[in-house]
Order: sequence, then structure tokens, then C-alpha cells
Amino acid sequence: MKLKKDFLWGGAVAANQVEGAFEVGGKGLSVADVMTYKANVNVKDYKRNVQVTSEDIAAAIADHTTTDYPKRRGIDQYHHFKEDIALFKELGFKVYRFSIAWTRIFPTGEEMSPNRAGIAYYQEFIKELKANDIEPLVTLSHYEMPLELALKYNGWQDKRVIDLFVKFAKVCFENFSEVKYWLTFNEIDSVTRHPFISAGIIEDQTARLEEAEYQALHNQFVASAIVTKLVHEIIPNSQVGCMLTKLTTYPATAAPGDVLAALNKNIMNYYCADVQVKGAYPKLILSYFKQHDIKLKTTSEELQTIKENTVDFISFSYYMSLLAAQKEDGLTMTVGNTVAGGKNPYLKTTDWGWTVDPVGLRISLIELYDRYQKPLFIVENGMGAKDILESDGTIHDSYRIEYFEQHLSEMKKAVEAGVELLGYTSWAPIDLISASTSQMSKRYGFIYVDQDDEGNGTLKRYKKDSFKWYQHVIKTNGEEL
Ligand code: BG6
Repeated sequence: MKLKKDFLWGGAVAANQVEGAFEVGGKGLSVADVMTYKANVNVKDYKRNVQVTSEDIAAAIADHTTTDYPKRRGIDQYHHFKEDIALFKELGFKVYRFSIAWTRIFPTGEEMSPNRAGIAYYQEFIKELKANDIEPLVTLSHYEMPLELALKYNGWQDKRVIDLFVKFAKVCFENFSEVKYWLTFNEIDSVTRHPFISAGIIEDQTARLEEAEYQALHNQFVASAIVTKLVHEIIPNSQVGCMLTKLTTYPATAAPGDVLAALNKNIMNYYCADVQVKGAYPKLILSYFKQHDIKLKTTSEELQTIKENTVDFISFSYYMSLLAAQKEDGLTMTVGNTVAGGKNPYLKTTDWGWTVDPVGLRISLIELYDRYQKPLFIVENGMGAKDILESDGTIHDSYRIEYFEQHLSEMKKAVEAGVELLGYTSWAPIDLISASTSQMSKRYGFIYVDQDDEGNGTLKRYKKDSFKWYQHVIKTNGEEL
């Protein structure tokens, strides 16, 4: 079985990691704009990368520079988008995944009417994509909610944020009606891993953190269901996906206790998709809430909305896999995508300690399709690495080609096994600021951007060796890897 003729090949980014121009066109501050650069990838400290205190926020608000806040400068795609889209066209992209910064449309989240300059920017952007035959795939929320809503409501744990988000989404649907594919919340399950970035929850202002996280998730489920209904009404033939961080976990050994530990991790990883695809909370999660004294504020009307407005497809990110064991102290630990877990001795790791597990992608696709029986979309997969720009402007990234070649080969095998897959967008087609560490030196792209961790550089774009390789993959619809 081959990939479908209209298979959506492309790349994925988020506004806060590429756009820059953080105070241009009336944009307000988002939670991403207060994240500082962290060079550290130490397994013991991995959580520190994504933690933000009230003190950090106050210092960031007083500082209007981009020096310590790389997401404020991104790769300046705001001013380079025509050039970047031309490169994506050259790659043969059928689709480009990006997010709409809420703070460009509603700078604090609470304005009565939207910011026209923000709308105009994205209209131009989408027009340019369309003119180049590239389908937009838009994420409404990708770690960049208005900072004001974090400060005023302590983020998504407050139900008033639901209406504010719905107002934002409605403006997007009405003004960007050419967009057919929408994702509501990027890696929605990440609220329990980094509550500030994903849900605007400031930990030191929160008494019962775990309860607040699950409440925020519930409020996001409700918001997601409401806007799913809305977009179906406003844009005919539109399709909405949930977006899950696929954290594939294997048992460290065949010991039943280890198998159980892995099973429990995977169940917790699946729970958000369960709610958004099946329209109801899984019973095991309700038991977990009881056992952990987590009391959610829900109404029957909200639960009905969730039930009636499930997603059309399931999108997910996949980067690595980890091991779980009954006794974790026996494991050699390593980091993954804002998680830590046991290191699999059969797998190599990237410079940042993430395991490279192509078969894990096939396993993930089969598991997800078997569980949900709905079309899947891989909207993030890629490798962060240190690249070297040679004096002649070339970048020889054979390691990246190898990574993609292996993952795409496993993806094809899953499709051969019967998995229905809409498309594949690599993370990320162009170098950008890392979500977790705000490093520029953690490079993902087929396109190199001349900028270092301190923000020095010309921002000139260069094609890496992998550019030509991915171009050929798309041209042959994945037949030749
Ligand atoms: C995903 C996020 O979790 O992983 C992206 O959706 C992020 O925003 C990507 O960039 C890679 O993570 P990092 O920390 O290497 O940028």
C-alpha cells in the first residue's frame, strides 16, 4: 500500500518560536515572551527549563529587550515570511503547520474587538501560502497564551478563560476562512508537565497544583469542543484535530511489575486524546482523580458539549521513547520531550539525550489507529542537533537525513499495515528557537538560519544537505527515501 496521492507533506512551527517582532503591530506579551534561555540539558534539572516563577515574570515584564528572551526575536519570520514560504515551495510542501499568536489578535486576551494589524498579518501570510499551493494547518494554541491571562486568572484553571479563547477562535475562523485544517491545543497533555507554558498556571501562586492542572485541562477540553462546533458551522468542510504528545513508553524488562509501570504511563499519556476522540473521560482517570483527591468543577452541559463535539482526526508529535520500571532507581535515566525516563540500551540518543527510535513511530501509529480508528496526522517529528555552517555556505547534516529516512520508512510500514494517515509535517523545516530551552543551537531545520544563542547573526537562510533530500522524498511521494 502506497501513501495517498494527496498525502500532506510539509513542516511545522509555532508562532512564538519563529515570528519574533514581539512588540510589532500591537502584539501583547505572551507566556513565551518571558521564557529565558537555558543552556542546560542535565537530566536531573530537565524540569527547570520549563519552570517560571512570579519573580521571573516580574523581571521579564520590566525588561523590554530580547537579550535573555530568545522567543521574542524568534528567527524574525514575521519579516521574512515571503522568503521562507518560497523555500517551502521549493521543497515541494503541500502543507505548512503554524500557529496564530493569540496576542497578535487580542494583545491581553480581554479586548472587546480584535487587533486589525494582527488579522492583516495572518491574512497576508495565508494568502502567500495559498499562492504557493501550500495548505495551511493552523494551531490555535501553541504555548503562547496572553501573559495577562496568566497574571489575572492564573491561566486556564479559571473558566473565564474559556470564553476569551472562544472569542479569539471565532475571530480566526471568520477572518481566515480559507483554512481547512485546524488543531486546537498543541500537545494538550503537556499541561501536567509544564503548566505555565501550556496553561498559564503560575506554580508559586497555586495551592493545589495537580488539581489546578486537571481543571485547566478540563477547561481546555470544553473550549476545544466549543470551537470544534463553531468551525464546523463557520467553515464548511473544515476538519479539526486534537494534538497529543505521543510519549511511547516500554517496560524496562519483561518483569510484570515493569510491564504494569509502562502500561500506567501509557494510559496517562492517552487520556486527553481519549476525551477528545471518544467524547468522555475514561473511567480509570475518574478513579485516579478520586484516589488523588482531585475535585474537578464540571457541569453536565460541559460534559455534553465534549460528548457532542469530538475531533475529526488525531494529530500527534513523536520524537522518542522511554523505559518505565517498577523501581525507577534501577534505571539509567535520560531526558525526552520535557520528560525524563529510563534510557533504552538498544537505542542511540541525540546530542540532547533524546532516544532515536524509528520503530517507536510505527508502534505509535499502530497503537493510535487501533485505539481510535480515526485518521492520524504526524504533525511533529524531527531531530535537534548541532549543525556546522561551512565557509562555503553548506551544512552537511547526514545525521538528520538518516533520522528522517529511518522514521519515514517506519511510517510507510505502518501505512502498509493499514493505518490511515493524512500527512506528515516535520519539526521543524527551518531552524527556530527551542520550546524547552530557548536555544537556537538546538537546530531542527532543512534550512539553516544564521543566528546564535545570543541573537548574533545575519538571519540569512542556507539550505542544508537535508533540504535536497526532503525535496526528493516529497517529489516521489515518499517512494524514494
Ligand atoms: C514539541 C513542541 O513538544 O517539541 C514544540 O510542540 C517543540 O514546540 C518541539 O519545539 C521540540 O522541543 P524542543 O524543546 O527541542 O524545542
